[in-house]
Amino acid sequence: MLQAQLLNISKQFAGAEAVDNVSMDIFPGEILAVVGPSGCGKTTLLQLVAGLLKPDRGSIQVAGRTLSAAGEVLVPPEKRGIAMVFQNYALWPHYDVFANIAYPLRIKGYSRSKQKQTVEELLEAVRLKGMEGRYPHELSGGEQQRVALARALALNPLLLLLDESLSNLDAGLRKEMREEIKRIQRELSLTIIHVTHDQQEAMAIADRIAVMNEGKMVQVGAVEEVYRFPRTEFTARFMGDSNLLRLNKDSPAEMKLWEMARPKVIEGGGQPLQHTPEILTVRSEDIKLDDVPGQLTGEIVERIYHGSNIEYRLKFMDRILRVKTPADKFFEPGQQAGFTIEKATRVRADN
Ligand SMILES: Nc1ncnc2c1ncn2[C@@H]1O[C@H](COP(=O)(O)OP(=O)(O)O)[C@@H](O)[C@H]1O
Ligand SMILES: [Mg+2]
Repeated sequence: MLQAQLLNISKQFAGAEAVDNVSMDIFPGEILAVVGPSGCGKTTLLQLVAGLLKPDRGSIQVAGRTLSAAGEVLVPPEKRGIAMVFQNYALWPHYDVFANIAYPLRIKGYSRSKQKQTVEELLEAVRLKGMEGRYPHELSGGEQQRVALARALALNPLLLLLDESLSNLDAGLRKEMREEIKRIQRELSLTIIHVTHDQQEAMAIADRIAVMNEGKMVQVGAVEEVYRFPRTEFTARFMGDSNLLRLNKDSPAEMKLWEMARPKVIEGGGQPLQHTPEILTVRSEDIKLDDVPGQLTGEIVERIYHGSNIEYRLKFMDRILRVKTPADKFFEPGQQAGFTIEKATRVRADN
């Protein structure tokens, strides 16, 4: 059974489709990341699921119960069994950690002893034992984030919605919290929709990824599948550093690269490429550089050191290619380098 299902959901603001005919299945116990650029409709989508907004069209089901259908909200937000964590945590500043986490339990009329027991379990789950007496301003950003998470989990939600909830943390903490969320999700068998504009974060945290652009869901699939086999130009650009090659007869570089890349396209079932695709993409890590000139030779024009890898700009005739190498592969700008294309993917042009 599905944990949640969206069917043909649309929402307009001032005549523009913020969410445009989105359908999506969410499986029990998975983390589904919804990614897309700022303004593509991610927050609107979550608010529709949470019941904070009313859809114009379509239906939403959670755990077999229909929450909204055909423009009607059938179940109000507080009765949906859905919890949401925002980017700015929204903790109560004058409540200590215990009172913040206990808040939803108190509203529901849980006894003092039941509140205490539940908060203790949650503090353990988010690793904040001993901090129940502190106030939000006495906590680090990461600790506040954990309190917000614990509070969201207090009522044992059927679905947890995270809206850019790691975006305010610095890089190190963000990485730590990704792992924490995964651990907590596993331990408590949670189902999570995690919204982010950061495709690296989405890949690190999720089981599946849903890519959104201009209100539309453009591709949904397992993390590796979306990364390795983007179907459209947008997804290819958004999910990683790709070189996009069009069959451009006016560009000698493009024609040569096309000829080299085409046989490297991996098709489902290992079949050779049947017809001419609109665009081929070659990921920056799928171009291999060589010290000596080869069948293809370019000139290194720029080197960007990232610590764990190096990114080069390689000039090949009239094109600049992006190439990513291991950190020990050193080339100097101005140097000639041979290169080969190891893998390519075909994608559909966006327009
Ligand atoms: N309450 C609102 N009123 C009018 N327009 C809105 C409202 N909320 C969002 N929008 C518009 O809807 C689009 C999607 O916004 P949003 O869902 O916040 O995107 P994201 O979370 O992906 O950045 C944007 O163009 C935004 O300006
Ligand atoms: Mg948003």
